[in-house]
Amino acid sequence: MLFRGAAPLRFRPRRQITEEVRELSKTLFIKTWGCQMNVYDSARMADVLAPVGFRQVDCADDADMVILNTCHIREKAAEKVFSELGRLRALKKRKQARGGHMILAVAGCVGQAEGAEIMARAPYVDIVFGPQTYHRLPEMVAKAAAETGGNVLDTEFPVESKFDFLPEEQATQGVSAFLAVQEGCDKFCTFCVVPYTRGAGYSRPVLDILAEARRLIAGGAREITLLGQNVNTWRAEGLAGEGSWGLGRLLREVAELEGLIRLRYTTSHPGDMDLSLMSAHAEVPKLMPFVHLPIQSGSNRILALMNRKHEVVEYRRVVDQLRHFRPDIGLSSDFIVGFPGETDADFADTLALVEEIGYAQAYSFKYSPRPGTPAAELAAEASVPESVMGERLAQLQELLNRQQLAFNQAAVGSVMSVLFDRLGRRPEQLLGRSPFMQAVHVVAGEELLGSLAQVRIERALANSLSGSLV
Ligand code: 5AD
Ligand code: SF4
Repeated sequence: MLFRGAAPLRFRPRRQITEEVRELSKTLFIKTWGCQMNVYDSARMADVLAPVGFRQVDCADDADMVILNTCHIREKAAEKVFSELGRLRALKKRKQARGGHMILAVAGCVGQAEGAEIMARAPYVDIVFGPQTYHRLPEMVAKAAAETGGNVLDTEFPVESKFDFLPEEQATQGVSAFLAVQEGCDKFCTFCVVPYTRGAGYSRPVLDILAEARRLIAGGAREITLLGQNVNTWRAEGLAGEGSWGLGRLLREVAELEGLIRLRYTTSHPGDMDLSLMSAHAEVPKLMPFVHLPIQSGSNRILALMNRKHEVVEYRRVVDQLRHFRPDIGLSSDFIVGFPGETDADFADTLALVEEIGYAQAYSFKYSPRPGTPAAELAAEASVPESVMGERLAQLQELLNRQQLAFNQAAVGSVMSVLFDRLGRRPEQLLGRSPFMQAVHVVAGEELLGSLAQVRIERALANSLSGSLV
């Protein structure tokens, strides 16, 4: 079972709770697994807890509160939570022995899907909550910290949107920032837990998005990535109350914001790439020429079993149109090998599609049965042997790595605009991104952090480029 209700927390006035907890002035450590949405959520959890006295630190050892923001997408990701909890239990005990207290919380999609199991298997966990309730963290913490308080489980799908309750004050995310515009998913691909753990699709209103974008820019962001599980299903009423806007229109609006240099969006479903979005790649200079467009498999038979709602021919058409609007566009994708019933011929179709499209970058995974999903039932009857999955994954990754290296090598000798978003590991070195998401190492002074520079690319490696300022 994936949906688990919990007794709703009784709300007390926010001010009262703020005062109770503020006095504590405590340290908070958040460990994040999984997708960029989780990275965004973790940042917002810290924002929610800041007004009640929590300051983020980068080590769990002596923290007053530890949040594990978890991922349930594949079995391996979910398993990590329990091994990490074992380690944290020891830290918590050590702190208790010294008269202190550590609040231990599990957040994210594992919390949502396995809240009751976590409470049963690891009763030393104080709070479990899902992706849709973290705006209530102050209440949960107050309850867990109260002498009479027990464990707190809040994995509801509340009627209110958390976005309406998140604080306006946001810690800076740095030069490159994420902004969630859409969340959840109504597609129900048969292998995927997201519709169950994140809930139904939800689009934030334009005004909220613009306000948050302005705050991010004021805090130093020069690149914003609009996030959504299915970001290109984003749809909301236009600014003047006119009709409804899609992502293409929203990107055009966000691009107008002064101080913003670059704009990206992820993750897109191939079935929802409309003309307005694709043409934005030709018409909006700030929009970067890189699109993450997962297809999962190159076999129509498997796409149907996956309930992807499109065939290869439609994917190809989207790629052709994107390349029509922006011939140099870089593409990335996700692939699953060993989906139940996948034959050698199906897998050969995937390899052929990859050869045909040519990816700048891609992620590939062995199919992992997720409890409660339709494909997990298929897997009980028609699972692909582990050894076959391993061979297919190795073969696919060999091809994708070759394409990625070729894509990187093709940049050597060219001049690219690079946005420097962090310090490099060596002194006098900055790390930035090319328009195509490639990491670029350049010898440059710290004063260039946050700005765009022209870089001549001199060397290409599998996962990065290096070059010098023009
Ligand atoms: N098994 C393997 N990979 C999965 N993904 C999602 N669910 C599963 C699963 N059950 C992959 C898909 C998706 C990416 C985020 O994770 O490729 O696009
Ligand atoms: Fe999962 Fe499919 Fe929704 Fe993507 S589109 S989040 S893979 S159900």
